[in-house]
Amino acid sequence: MSNMQRTLIIVKPDAMQRNLLGRIVTRFEEKGLKIAGMKMTRLSDEKLDEHYIHHKDKPFFQDLKGFMKSSPVVFLVLEGHEVIETVRLIIGPTNGRVADAGSIRGDFSMSQANNIVHASDSLESAEAEIKRFFAEDELYDYQKDDWNWIYATDELDQNKN
Ligand code: CMP
Repeated sequence: MSNMQRTLIIVKPDAMQRNLLGRIVTRFEEKGLKIAGMKMTRLSDEKLDEHYIHHKDKPFFQDLKGFMKSSPVVFLVLEGHEVIETVRLIIGPTNGRVADAGSIRGDFSMSQANNIVHASDSLESAEAEIKRFFAEDELYDYQKDDWNWIYATDELDQNKN
């Protein structure tokens, strides 16, 4: 049965500075994920306090905020059947040093903090994070023709508008 989900990706300042944006987007595209939204912005203190509220008492919180504000970032909203779990596998665990080769962090990161991308970790956080960073009219429902080949019929539930 189809379980279409959306998840939020942040391409972090280290990836932007290291010219990795295109390669990261390519990995998601090649996997067969639909881009439902995409934009570039510089993160504000207000948004970072909200986004990282569960880390506010951690010793690395101020460094994390400084890092996330140091360059503009790119946001992606990705869509697909069970996409939240799939994207977590594609990016690998937080610490790039122990991430599997082949994952984004495994291939591009040697750090726990400078770990290239953020991705939502659950359905609840995906919904909250997408709402935090995207207005309704910045997200797109459209037919993706290659999905007829990427998915089996029972996994497919395309928006056609
Ligand atoms: P992210 O997936 O965005 O979620 C929280 C971020 O905090 C994480 O990626 C890292 O960038 C950062 N982080 C997590 N743990 C540590 C740590 N021990 N030291 C420094 N930064 C960390």
